[in-house]
Amino acid sequence: MATNTTTRPEPHAKNFGENLESDLALEFLRVVENAAIESARTMGQGDRPLSDQMATEAMRRTMDTVPMHGTIVIGEGERDDAPMLYIGEQVGGPYPDGRDVPSVDIAVDPLEGTNLCATGAPGAITVLAASEKGGLLHAPDCYMEKIVVGPSCKNAVELDAPVAVNLKNIARRMHRGVDDLVIVVLDRPRHETLIADIRKAGARIRLIGDGDLSAGIAAAVMGTGVHAVMGSGGAPEGVITAAAIRCLNGYMVGRLVIDKPELEERIAKMGIKDAKRIYEAEDLAPGKQMIFGATGVTEGALLKGVRFFAEGTRTSSVILTLKTGRVRFIESIHLEKGPDVKVRFS
Ligand code: FBP
Repeated sequence: MATNTTTRPEPHAKNFGENLESDLALEFLRVVENAAIESARTMGQGDRPLSDQMATEAMRRTMDTVPMHGTIVIGEGERDDAPMLYIGEQVGGPYPDGRDVPSVDIAVDPLEGTNLCATGAPGAITVLAASEKGGLLHAPDCYMEKIVVGPSCKNAVELDAPVAVNLKNIARRMHRGVDDLVIVVLDRPRHETLIADIRKAGARIRLIGDGDLSAGIAAAVMGTGVHAVMGSGGAPEGVITAAAIRCLNGYMVGRLVIDKPELEERIAKMGIKDAKRIYEAEDLAPGKQMIFGATGVTEGALLKGVRFFAEGTRTSSVILTLKTGRVRFIESIHLEKGPDVKVRFS
């Protein structure tokens, strides 16, 4: 069980979080930063559980210093197998002056790309999304087929369209040839046909070992060299991607992969009636207010990894908000207080 030493705010606080983006965006920055710093210490150690544990514990600890009444809606799993940040867990602390705290739903992936961190490969991030109550779909822990593209490709792709047609549409919207496109795909045997179809259509492919969430964000930001992400990855990652996609005005479509009878039962219990439903970002993350935060653990297309130096630590993060429309790339220097402290520009 998680230990929590702070005084938990009243569950039915009167603050409905009307200003939760401005109240909490920078608080959540601390959460993803601290998780990144702790997990980055384990980079390349080959110990996946340790990397994940460091990120999860730091995220959990820092969450309890954030003035909020938070509920984990996507987390490390069910209460029985996840010691902390389990689905349904309450997180957050009070304001020092006793004001009502906002109520928020939170989706976390404390370390997205555990393997990447454990092997020192690029692309590991710490990540979360937060919204008002009901603002994030409680997705089951199964796969989701996804296509993620940037703002210029809104409504240009369909899950059931032939791969070549989707690629042609993306290329047309992006004013280039299909052979100029870079499509990110998780390197998995289940993607054999997808990969063959992309190759046949003439687009280029970046196969990644893990981390379709950060690839999805890169697809929605111009200049990253990623034009789309295709294939199936985690459904929880899909919801967190959707939160970022909404803030970045991108486009995505997703459908749960329900391929086992137990999953059918599980989604029915969760209140999902149509297993074949095609979700867009607005369905996966329907909140009016949205905060998305991520910090690089290892080097990535969008975020640098954590860098340790004699007097402190540098982190690169992105904090996105929907209603207030802010895209913040934040480079932080966390100084260890000492007589010789020096700050370098870059
Ligand atoms: P974690 O490191 O958070 O476990 O997930 C990594 C990841 O590659 C995700 O980016 C992706 O959505 C999912 O795992 C794919 O799952 P699988 O490895 O089973 O194909």
